[in-house]
Amino acid sequence: MIKIISVTNQKGGVGKTTTTINLATSLAAVKKNVLIIDADPQGNASTGLGIPYKSRDPSIYEMIHEKKLLKEGIKETIIPGLSIIGANTDLAAAEVELTSFDKREYTFTNIFKEIDNFDYVFIDCPPALGLLTINSLVASDSALIPLQSEFFALEGLSALMKTIELIQQSYNKKLEIEGILLTMVDKRNSLSSLVEKDVRQHFEKKVYKTTIPRNIKISEAPSHGKPALIYDTHCAGSLAYIELAKEVILNQNVKS
Ligand SMILES: Nc1ncnc2c1ncn2[C@@H]1O[C@H](COP(=O)(O)OP(=O)(O)OP(=O)(O)O)[C@@H](O)[C@H]1O
Ligand SMILES: [Mg+2]
Repeated sequence: MIKIISVTNQKGGVGKTTTTINLATSLAAVKKNVLIIDADPQGNASTGLGIPYKSRDPSIYEMIHEKKLLKEGIKETIIPGLSIIGANTDLAAAEVELTSFDKREYTFTNIFKEIDNFDYVFIDCPPALGLLTINSLVASDSALIPLQSEFFALEGLSALMKTIELIQQSYNKKLEIEGILLTMVDKRNSLSSLVEKDVRQHFEKKVYKTTIPRNIKISEAPSHGKPALIYDTHCAGSLAYIELAKEVILNQNVKS
């Protein structure tokens, strides 16, 4: 069974890419076969995994535009068991081109039909609720939503929840909320604790027990083209992502 998870939140800089890279790496470390699809024209997941700009073709853009095959785009990373389909700024054009497509919401679903041999597929979504994100959600089993634990955390979340509901009603009945993840948590900061309490009260069991601490090693790792788990395996951030991976595996076992 392949599980496709969109890591999504239209708010920028909340930890989508960091979560995609480090959760995927944690799952690969326990022998799961994992694919990351970079669906963000910023290409941060590709950069963070050390994929050179020139070798990111074919990305999802070429698969949409030139009907290139998904399998041609799958690249191995330095982590055994973790592959990626890269992205670069060309992908920004897809947002416009997709608008003229027939059944445009299902474009990713059709491209992803070719995916096999993976246990988990993570789609790193861009910070927008445009057609790239909608396509990702229509093609996914679930959505994992990182929330930065700060004052504006819940702003915009209702728009995301409405979009997810609309997709469930109109395009993809099986879409679930995989979980809400609190990121960049600073336990010494009382505001951070208040936000956590608020989010847990609101979303109850949907919120992961694991929270990701604000951790300097996590922010340094991408500039070395490595996941935090490789850059510093024992830092607080890496350990938190390993805990998160356990919850994600357990979650799936409970549901299946
Ligand atoms: N737990 C953390 N501790 C410290 N820094 C973090 C943590 N998580 C993410 N960051 C840093 O915060 C910034 C934003 O993170 P990230 O790129 O993962 O967010 P994003 O939601 O993918 O952003 P975008 O919306 O632009 O795609 C990055 O510089 C990243 O290194
Ligand atoms: Mg990102």
